[in-house]
Amino acid sequence: MTNITPIQDKDGILGCQAYLFWNLFIEGDEVFKWTSDMSIDNGFIDEDHKKLIDIANRVVQLNHPNRHAEELKQAIRELYDYVKYHFDREEIFMQEIQYPHTDAHHQKHEAIVKDMNHYLTTSHHLGEMLDNFRILMNKWVLNHIMDEDIQLREFMASKRPPL
Ligand SMILES: [Fe+2]
Repeated sequence: MTNITPIQDKDGILGCQAYLFWNLFIEGDEVFKWTSDMSIDNGFIDEDHKKLIDIANRVVQLNHPNRHAEELKQAIRELYDYVKYHFDREEIFMQEIQYPHTDAHHQKHEAIVKDMNHYLTTSHHLGEMLDNFRILMNKWVLNHIMDEDIQLREFMASKRPPL
């Protein structure tokens, strides 16, 4: 189970409203994609990852000048909350199946949440927050699935009795 303490200021993790201004127009919609090579368990972990990617895409697609800033911030907060919820679930599962790298994986999860806190609270305006958000999604969440969670898949496969 994770023991993550979010670093929230009094305005909350997304409290950069003072710096709010619209400079959000980015050409085209950037879309994160779940692909079958990212599959870990054909179960709840995959469903969580898909949901995280769905929320992330909602965030990216809100990057449009005719949308309201509050909607964008709510979507980022939803993603942040779901990441934490998912990490807890994943770690409980790892403990249940006695995954030998549970502690190390927990550390990786904590680092992601800390980075999310850092980038999101230190962004000076929504445009910067979105840039940081993309970096986080690529560098941490998607790479984490491909580099770290995949090892869990390999462990589960090694435990499966031969056909
Ligand atoms: Fe993970």
